[in-house]
Amino acid sequence: MSPILPIELCTWGGEIPQATQVAATDALEAGSVLFFPNLSFELTETERAFLSPEIVGSSKNVNYDPKSGKVGGANVAAMKLHELRGLMDRFATATRELLSTLLPTYRNGLHQARTSLRPVEVAGRKQTWRKDDTRLHVDSFPSQPSRGKRILRVFCNVNPDGRPRVWKVGEQFDTVARKYWPALRAPLPGERGLLAAIRVTKSVRTRYDHYMLKLHDAMKLDPVYQARFASATHLFPAGSSWVCFTDQVSHAAVSGAHQLEQTFMVDVNALRNPASAPLRVLESLAGRKLA
Ligand code: SIN
Ligand code: FE
Repeated sequence: MSPILPIELCTWGGEIPQATQVAATDALEAGSVLFFPNLSFELTETERAFLSPEIVGSSKNVNYDPKSGKVGGANVAAMKLHELRGLMDRFATATRELLSTLLPTYRNGLHQARTSLRPVEVAGRKQTWRKDDTRLHVDSFPSQPSRGKRILRVFCNVNPDGRPRVWKVGEQFDTVARKYWPALRAPLPGERGLLAAIRVTKSVRTRYDHYMLKLHDAMKLDPVYQARFASATHLFPAGSSWVCFTDQVSHAAVSGAHQLEQTFMVDVNALRNPASAPLRVLESLAGRKLA
């Protein structure tokens, strides 16, 4: 199986043949990245002014909650905030339309989460090791337990100077999980409840969330693993988009600036092949339910 599946699409939504829908869903669940070389997201002249590292504070991203309409992390005047919200909301709507037509089987199990604009150059960014996404990892949110749900993300490179976003893509989830599983420590008694009580997490981590974060950490802290995939790079050109389950695909962002991203959470039961979910893979290694 190829790690990247190119798909010809140039609109966010609209008719998609059933064979393409099925192939896209199966490839995603098998751990591929769906790549749309000609799916761009147009910005107006005024919106292009937001493509500057100066519009964000220490969080490095502008974030947007499509449910409440709230914009966070932006360092812009109140008047401009309205335009920025408009841009974020248009991308949120476009990605929702794309997924509802491309992945119709997920319709009842698809939950839209945060939208982000990432205007800061990835290469050379000062980060703690845990936040350093130039190291290969699978996504796991430290403060927001997914409780077994999948993390599906839509990315669009909106770089105005034609620069690509460069990723590394590692190996299959079950290979990675099997490799690190023996080294992942079990949660301590009371640990997950305590983290929620002192608000480190927004809800109580399930055992699944605990092990996924441990796996994320183990990958980022392993220099041998990082070195092995040093040359496994993929270029996503300006004006292209891509979609993958980032809790499953071993990935790293090497370089690039100016990207839009939309996160969706997907119920494991909505998958065509639930056995491919990290939850089910880890449960088979643990020999017990984890969420
Ligand atoms: C990540 O999810 O690790 C970062 C992806 C990106 O910003 O390109
Ligand atoms: Fe990531």
